This record gives sequence, C-alpha cells and structure tokens, in this order.
Amino acid sequence: MRPRKRRKVSIVGAGNVGATTAQKIVENGLADVVILDVREGMAQGKALDILESGPLLGFDTRIVGSGNYETIEGSSVVVVTAGFSRKPGMSREDLLHKNGDIMIEVAEKIRKHAPDSVVIMVTNPMDLMAYILWKVTGFPRERVIGMGGALDSSRFAYFVSEVTNTSVSNIQTMVMGGHGDDMVPLLEFSTIAGVSLKKALDPEVLQNLVARTRDGGGEIVRLMKDSSAYFAPAAAIYSMIESILHDRHRVIPSSVYLEGEYGVKGVFSGVPVQIGNIGLEKIVLLPLSTEEEEAFHRSTESIRQGIRTIDRLFPDLGRS
Ligand code: NAI
Ligand code: 2OP
Repeated sequence: MRPRKRRKVSIVGAGNVGATTAQKIVENGLADVVILDVREGMAQGKALDILESGPLLGFDTRIVGSGNYETIEGSSVVVVTAGFSRKPGMSREDLLHKNGDIMIEVAEKIRKHAPDSVVIMVTNPMDLMAYILWKVTGFPRERVIGMGGALDSSRFAYFVSEVTNTSVSNIQTMVMGGHGDDMVPLLEFSTIAGVSLKKALDPEVLQNLVARTRDGGGEIVRLMKDSSAYFAPAAAIYSMIESILHDRHRVIPSSVYLEGEYGVKGVFSGVPVQIGNIGLEKIVLLPLSTEEEEAFHRSTESIRQGIRTIDRLFPDLGRS
C-alpha cells in the first residue's frame, strides 16, 4: 500500500501568529503548510527560514510561502490570521472596520480555492470576522470555527496554576462568550483535580483570576507595546487543527454560529465545541447557573451589536 499523502494546512497572514502556528505544525510533523501574505516576500522568506531548520530538528514536512491563492488548493484546514492586530488603547472592536474589508477578500478566495476546507478564524474582532467569512463563503456552520476560547481558557488555567501552585495538567478550565472584555470564565465547570474553582478558592481570588483572564490579551499588549500575543495563540490554533486532522473529538471552547443553543440564535460566540474531521461536531450544553447564563447573554448581545454594525457597513455579504 502506498503511504498516504500528508494533509495540507494553509495559513492566510504570515505575521506573528500565522508564522508561529506554521512553525509548530511543520516542526511537529502534523501537516504540510502554505503560508500566504500580501507583503511581497514575507511569507516566502519565513517559509525558507523554517525549512532551513529542518536538518537541525529532523522534520520532513514541507512549507511553502506564497502570495497567490492558487497555492491553498487542496487544503484540509485554512487558518485566517490576516489583518491588523490591536495596539495599546485600541479595542478589538476598533479593528472591525479595517479587518472587515480584508476578510471579505480572503473569504472570496477561500470559497474559490479551498471550497472543502474547515476554516479557523483568528483575526480580531474574531467572533465578527468569523461571521463575515461564514456569510461570504456560504460554508456550512460546521466548517467555520473561531479561535478564542482555547486561548482564553489556557490563560485562565495558567493563572489558576500560578496562584495555587498546582500543575497545569491538573487544571481544566472553560471560558464561554465572545473573545472580548465580557468573556465568561466559568467557575463551576473549571476544576483543580476535579474540584470546582468555586469550591476550591476564595471569592476574592476568583474575582482576580476572572479579571486577569478577561484582560489577558490586553496585559500582553501593554507589555509588548507594538504587538499582541502570538505564542499562546499559536498553541491554541494548533490544538484545534490537531483535533480536526486527527479526528480527536476534543471539546475545545470555540466560536461557532449559534442556532438556538444556550438560547441564542444568529451570532458567532464561544461555547464548548467538540471538534473532529468535519470541524464542528457537537456543541456541548452545560447546565449554566442563572448568573452565568445572564453573563453569557450579555456577551452575545454585544456581539449582536457588532453584527448590526457589520450589516450596516457591509450590506452585501452574500447569504441572508
Ligand atoms: P501581524 O501584524 O503580525 O500579522 C498580520 C499579517 O496579515 C501581516 O503579515 C500582514 O501583511 C497580513 N495581511 C494583511 N492584509 C492581508 C491580506 N489582505 N491578505 C493576506 N495577508 C494580509 O499580526 P498577528 O499578531 O499575527 O495577529 C493577526 C490577527 O490575529 C490580528 O487581528 C490579531 O488581533 C488576531 N489575534 C487573535 C487572537 C485570537 O485569540 N482570536 C490571538 C492573537 C491574535
Ligand atoms: C489576544 O487575546 C489579541 O485577541 C488577542 O491576545
């Protein structure tokens, strides 16, 4: 039997997040990669640089840098990181206008050149960019998934491990809602060695952990000044791609188009999602407390406001 061909992952946007994700995929032998960018030579240079580390690290996976969308043909997964990142003092929503135009163009190209792919949206404001891409591509909701909850939950877990001096491997966290300042870190469904955070920690400690998680992206921007986070985001994207390519059925909090789950319809928002080969396999329904449910609905309402702005700014996005 001939060996199976390696799967292909394309990453649109070869900046900090895109290139770091590409590096992780290639170094771990997960798939061959295409990185694509509008900046002439940027993707090609980074791809070559990564390939030149192959003999040192011993990987045979391939990476191609490109400025041409024909190179993404045959991709199982397309990751979108193209666009601008937040600068200090800039909200994710400030990015809406700038990145919306880019997303329409990127979505049209994906629809044409990778019509069967599962798309992972990363560009901010992520829940809204996922909505634009879903509308323009016309893809079923199973194949447009936003990355946000994986990162926010990982940050939350790290902060819990730091405060409690516990191994990260004993901590499970869940963050729902939009990837923004009103995300909802869940205290009943986040655990240290099986014990809920609500039972394990003081209310004041919990409050600080929640606040730090919500501000996780901003904290990094304030430190780095001219860039936002990319190491943990790349790891979060990697975990989602791996669950798709290896059909692992992992439950990873992710932004998907809601059709009534948790009482919400017509927006992309973060919920626990089982991810496999087809993309979104199942939305896991957690029995939220009244308080958590209200916080989740407040978060989805602010996403809905963003969608109203999108519908006004970009009235002809395709599907109704
Ligand atoms: P970056 O500035 O390093 O990279 C963005 C790249 O996109 C640049 O290389 C740029 O040339 C390219 N680009 C711009 N327009 C393009 C187009 N039309 N087609 C192809 N490429 C294009 O930014 P970074 O740090 O990689 O972040 C990328 C995006 O991801 C930002 O919007 C950022 O806010 C977001 N982000 C989202 C996270 C999440 O959890 N959802 C986490 C981290 C970043
Ligand atoms: C973050 O949370 C910028 O959304 C990005 O780091």
